Amino acid sequence: MGEFDNKEIQSFTLTDNKTGVSYDLPVIHGTTGPDVIDIRQLYSNTNCFTYDPGFTSTGSCESKITYIDGEAGILRYRGYPIDTLAENSDFMEVCYLLLYGDLPLSLEKQEFEFTISRHTMLHEQVNTFFRGFRRDAHPMAIVCGVVGALSAFYHDSTDINDPQHRMIASHRLLAKMPTIAALAYKYSIGQPFIYPRNDLKYAENFLYMMNATPCEEYEVNPVLARAMDRILILHADHEQNASTSTVRLAGSSGANPFACISAGIASLWGPAHGGANEAVLRMLKEIGSVERIPEFIQKAKDKDDPFRLMGFGHRVYKNFDPRATVLQQTCHEVLDELGVENEPLLDIAMRLEKVALEDSYFIEKKLYPNVDFYSGIIFRAMGIPTSLFTVIFAVARTVGWVAQWNEMIEDPSQKIGRPRQLYTGEGERGYIPLSKR
Ligand code: SDX
Repeated sequence: MGEFDNKEIQSFTLTDNKTGVSYDLPVIHGTTGPDVIDIRQLYSNTNCFTYDPGFTSTGSCESKITYIDGEAGILRYRGYPIDTLAENSDFMEVCYLLLYGDLPLSLEKQEFEFTISRHTMLHEQVNTFFRGFRRDAHPMAIVCGVVGALSAFYHDSTDINDPQHRMIASHRLLAKMPTIAALAYKYSIGQPFIYPRNDLKYAENFLYMMNATPCEEYEVNPVLARAMDRILILHADHEQNASTSTVRLAGSSGANPFACISAGIASLWGPAHGGANEAVLRMLKEIGSVERIPEFIQKAKDKDDPFRLMGFGHRVYKNFDPRATVLQQTCHEVLDELGVENEPLLDIAMRLEKVALEDSYFIEKKLYPNVDFYSGIIFRAMGIPTSLFTVIFAVARTVGWVAQWNEMIEDPSQKIGRPRQLYTGEGERGYIPLSKR
């Protein structure tokens, strides 16, 4: 990692038109996708920083995990297209692929699933953390707090320079997220906590912990378990998005993995990011009827109105989000399985999608439905409360976060992330005592 096999040295020449001095900036080629201009020596050579708020043109790291082509609507995990994984794989296999780089052999997959299933229980004292929250606490607040608190329990796996420690911590996080999410839900509705079962698959186990009670047998609907498994696959990783970049930045200081993932959860919570699925449902409910769609399309186009069409647009996808395509199909499968004939919010969503995609504003700005547009409708059909939608996104994205965190730690060129700035504040000023102000 970090050493680039740069056969033909290509470069960009930067010329200072005041001094006429030129600087050659080497270009680095990846396997595919845009090349990068290596500016690591720029400041020492030119005494200038680059300026790129939001990092729209900035590569923050080298990675071998996920590749996205926004124009072509391509998303690949370790080279495998997302639609083929969603169709043919399962979430545990995709977790193995993201963490270790290749699809597992049969025995490797069995051992991995056995390991993960044996880490799904929480320390009994962790369960007491939930009772410190109000019953109406947002589940993301609970999950963010409890995950960070795990670092108080696992002193045997926080030496981030020990690969064994890193992998045990990664397995614990991957395994415990569904349990933490389900407990946050049970706590919010005042029902007793349901322990994970080692005989159930990952997604099935999560739905079991969410819906079972101690009073009777509960069997998870296999169609819903498959749908949940596919949703987890689609949300598992997504290159250097806001929450993954948060995890990498936190990890670059040497913070323990539980604290880093808690930071990622906090970043994902925002409505511009993972919180969008919850925001989509709120928006569809606010629209309320197909007849009011034009009113909200206008609001979304109005520069003076902060309203945005939740579930539309993406920093990278300027054509279509391949995950939304798979989710649209999954949405209809779930609604058919549940016999949901007329889901008014789905009618509004389908109409909204059609109207938006025909509107010149959305066409010009390349705003298409993203991964969050359909997931909320599926979750609602499955009886999952809106406040839990982003928690499920966090459950899925944990494997991507830990895979990217491990890759960062193992990268010999990695150092603490410390961006600079363009300072436009006051120049030096003399202090004026209070008596003289
Ligand atoms: C996720 O990064 C990832 O990979 C994220 C994610 C992942 O898997 O990790 O894919 C998950 O976060 C998906 C995105 C979920 N967010 C939403 O659905 C919220 C609604 N979308 C917007 O907030 C917005 O589209 C973003 C935040 C997703 C992207 O914003 P950008 O890339 O910074 O684009 P922008 O805000 O500069 O918008 C470009 C233009 C602007 O107009 P102008 O200033 O150029 O005139 O498009 C407009 C925006 O006003 N615009 C929208 C819009 N999204 C962008 N106008 C109306 N409705 C929208 N949804």
